[in-house]
Amino acid sequence: MKNVKTDHNVPVDRSIVLVGMMGAGKSAVGRQLAQRIGLPFADADHEIEQAADCSVAEIFEQFGEEYFRAGERRVIARLVEAGPIVLATGGGAFIDPATRALLLEQTITVWLNAEFDVLWERVSKRSHRPLLRTQDPQGTLRKLMEERYPIYEQAHLTVISDRAPKEQTVLRVMEALSAQSESGKE
Ligand code: S3P
Repeated sequence: MKNVKTDHNVPVDRSIVLVGMMGAGKSAVGRQLAQRIGLPFADADHEIEQAADCSVAEIFEQFGEEYFRAGERRVIARLVEAGPIVLATGGGAFIDPATRALLLEQTITVWLNAEFDVLWERVSKRSHRPLLRTQDPQGTLRKLMEERYPIYEQAHLTVISDRAPKEQTVLRVMEALSAQSESGKE
């Protein structure tokens, strides 16, 4: 009762990094997960925006995706280097080979796996995502899912993100992390 840390068995010696598509809930789930397990939270997109002093959409518009990915690689490396945190990444971060290699080696990665309808419901409410500013955003989203899901599958853990309240998804992530740490002890 006195020790708040005993309310979970989630290992906090490595960063926990949420990966997955736009709209999978990485930031919302990550923020709440961080609170529950007592680690600091960072959102990679937000950190990139702060470092560049402009929005992700502006970076894409003015400098292009490659430039954004290079900044994303640097920011994620810096955040991981600084010590254990819960980190929400942008949807393309884990697709970048260098960022993926770093995350797989130094952190515990959790793929928030969501179906098309769930993602579309969430992303269509907002228009700030540069990759979906196409003639056919639904088609673009499907194409990105097809290209990316085999890569997201390489994450250490997979947790379903569906229409359940985000608290539920946070619990699923905590269970998956605890189970993994238990199996590592055997
Ligand atoms: C991107 C996802 C975005 C952001 C950028 C590129 C992607 O982050 O990093 O627009 O390649 O999927 P969210 O996944 O937080 O929307």
